[in-house]
Amino acid sequence: MFVHALLALLQTHVPGLPEYRIANIFNPQATPGELERHIANLTLGITAIIFVAVGALIVYTIWKFRRKPDDESQHEPPQVYGSNQIEIAWTVIPILIVFILIGVSARVIAGIQNASPPRSTLKVRLVGHQWWWEVQYPDLKMKTANEIHIPVNADGHTATYLQLESQDVIHSFWVPQLAGKTDLIPNRVNYTWIDPKKTGTFFGNCAEYCGTQHANMLLRVVVQPRNDFKAWAAEQAQPADANAQDAKVAQGKAVFESLACINCHTVNGTIATGVFGPDLTHLMSRQTIGAGVLDLNHKNLRDWVNDPQQAKPGCLMPSMKLTDPELDQVVSYLESLH
Ligand code: CUA
Repeated sequence: MFVHALLALLQTHVPGLPEYRIANIFNPQATPGELERHIANLTLGITAIIFVAVGALIVYTIWKFRRKPDDESQHEPPQVYGSNQIEIAWTVIPILIVFILIGVSARVIAGIQNASPPRSTLKVRLVGHQWWWEVQYPDLKMKTANEIHIPVNADGHTATYLQLESQDVIHSFWVPQLAGKTDLIPNRVNYTWIDPKKTGTFFGNCAEYCGTQHANMLLRVVVQPRNDFKAWAAEQAQPADANAQDAKVAQGKAVFESLACINCHTVNGTIATGVFGPDLTHLMSRQTIGAGVLDLNHKNLRDWVNDPQQAKPGCLMPSMKLTDPELDQVVSYLESLH
């Protein structure tokens, strides 16, 4: 389709733009996304017909009633006021169209909201923060950040139910290929669900303006075969096993634990138990830093720890003003958190 062609064109011509990072609502891979694509098509179809009809009438009228070369008259055309039939028609028809669209949308939204969980259901609690996502797995006793791993719906009976909450302001969950937007609202719990039929990484973002770094509050959903998901979850539930044999790692751990880092971050099995920032227990198992701002690699991690404000101005993590040796030690420690 046109949209696919446009995306393909963008992806070949914009250097460094990774494949699939532009999420496409016309290529849904989960039930809620599919249902919503039907509404999108219906809405686009109806509005396209209106657009073509109005455009055609305008072009026809401009052409038909243009001033002709031999028309010397200075008179205005006849002015017509007050036709009840026409006025009723242009009032009633749009109202009917609006009611059709409202009715169809309400039915789909209610269907998604009221769906009952299938037999094999994973529960994920997603908490919005300025500007990152806390991802908790209550039944698996572990948490991560900015990346939701879930099992693929290979048997038709596997779904993930998301419990959406916020720590500060209103955010909105949106992974276009999987499900439409659902807000994360302070002092309120919202729910939605996804059942991706394909493995892979699906990109999403916060869809409600939530402050300076709203645009850099990115989210990914990593859909895995069931066994891979189980292995990942088992790994994540383990405490951190920093390589204590390595002197640099040990020094880094000491520096990290001597600073305010531990007030905001948790590293399971250590004295770091802060909850204001992302859990770092298995930091290196993630793809990005700063909720999708940077790919997770040595250089980016070092730059980030040195001064997060460079990559994400306004974010709540300050520069700790570390010396170069301290910086290298802390980065070594973080890189040991697999
Ligand atoms: Cu969170 Cu916008």
